[in-house]
Amino acid sequence: MSSELYYADYLQLGRLLGAQRPESRRLGHEAHDEMLFIVVHQAYELWFRQILHELDAVLADFASERLDERSLAAICAKLERITRIQHLLVEQIGVLETMAPQDFLEFRDLLVPASGFQSVQFRVIETKLGLRVRDRPGGGTYVRRFSPGDRRLLEQLDHEPSLFDRVDAWLARMPFLQDDHYDFWSSYRDTLVQMFEADRAVLEQHSQLSDEERAQQLEQLQQSQQQFDCLFDATAYEKARTAGHVRLSRQAFQAALFIHLYRDEPLLQQPFRLLELLVEIDEQLTAWRYRHALMVQRMIGSRIGTGGSSGHQYLRQSAARTQIFGDLFNLASYLVPRSRLAPLPVGLSRKLDFHFSTLGNG
Ligand code: HEM
Repeated sequence: MSSELYYADYLQLGRLLGAQRPESRRLGHEAHDEMLFIVVHQAYELWFRQILHELDAVLADFASERLDERSLAAICAKLERITRIQHLLVEQIGVLETMAPQDFLEFRDLLVPASGFQSVQFRVIETKLGLRVRDRPGGGTYVRRFSPGDRRLLEQLDHEPSLFDRVDAWLARMPFLQDDHYDFWSSYRDTLVQMFEADRAVLEQHSQLSDEERAQQLEQLQQSQQQFDCLFDATAYEKARTAGHVRLSRQAFQAALFIHLYRDEPLLQQPFRLLELLVEIDEQLTAWRYRHALMVQRMIGSRIGTGGSSGHQYLRQSAARTQIFGDLFNLASYLVPRSRLAPLPVGLSRKLDFHFSTLGNG
């Protein structure tokens, strides 16, 4: 017999294609659309597997002592791949929507109490990204719906450092924000003070505002200023963190802001890309949740889910509550236009620079 590798063996197609067993067929009245239902779920699980493969490698990279430009580029490449897969996952819901709600009813009751809610890989992805138990609707009770082995796995994972934790620690370690001649935080504060003063002057002199409108706008300005002040006061920041208004540590938040403000500097471009990819992953996850919730409403209306939840209503709540990198989204409130930004000191700018040098041939 030839020892050449054969396509079907390499991909284990015998096992893969033998793994679609509709319940309705087993019970003797096969519902045509159950095959689609199974194949779509299995396709999701395969993609989840690939996402975890990438995520585990990213977590391992972050755990290493040194994170240089090369490893950052490799991390970004993996995160980018995750986002591409996520786009597919959102799109894939449309395939399932070709099933009419009434055709779903042909086999839906046979599935109780199983539910996509019990997708362990999906839960592992959420947890490894940094979704905390307390942020889930229903908190820690969600693990009750899993088998004892899966429950142990999920509970154990909850105590391991997530991507959120790794990114927080990496940002908090970031150099450049302070040296003998430069302090980013006080430079940024000066910029903000000037910006608020300029905005106040515009409001005070604006000829088309009524006294009432002016007072309202000045009040709003005052409120944004207070929000910014919280960034500069360590105690106020910790209070906001304990209350759940921010999640990143203060040092990490400062570093993320610095990266955003000075992202044109060559050495900050890769870190900026990384932060953008994390936002994209979070956004795609939320997009999937909303898309899935709408599909569920279309499919089962206001019925409860096979897993026993309130169905569509629970899913909406879950979509609204499960943002992981919300602080990175909110950074946009703290940005200032480039034209108002204090230039970096020459020494620091040089440290953040790298370029190809062209060698002359004479
Ligand atoms: C006809 C198609 C589908 C229907 C009617 C449906 C329905 C539901 C419902 C009602 C829930 C809430 C839990 C419950 O009570 O069961 C749920 C949760 C969930 N489903 Fe689906 N689902 C469908 C397809 C899918 C697919 C293809 C996936 C992909 C793996 C999936 C993954 C999930 C996940 C991960 C959750 C938990 C979401 C969260 O907690 O935020 N579902 N589904």
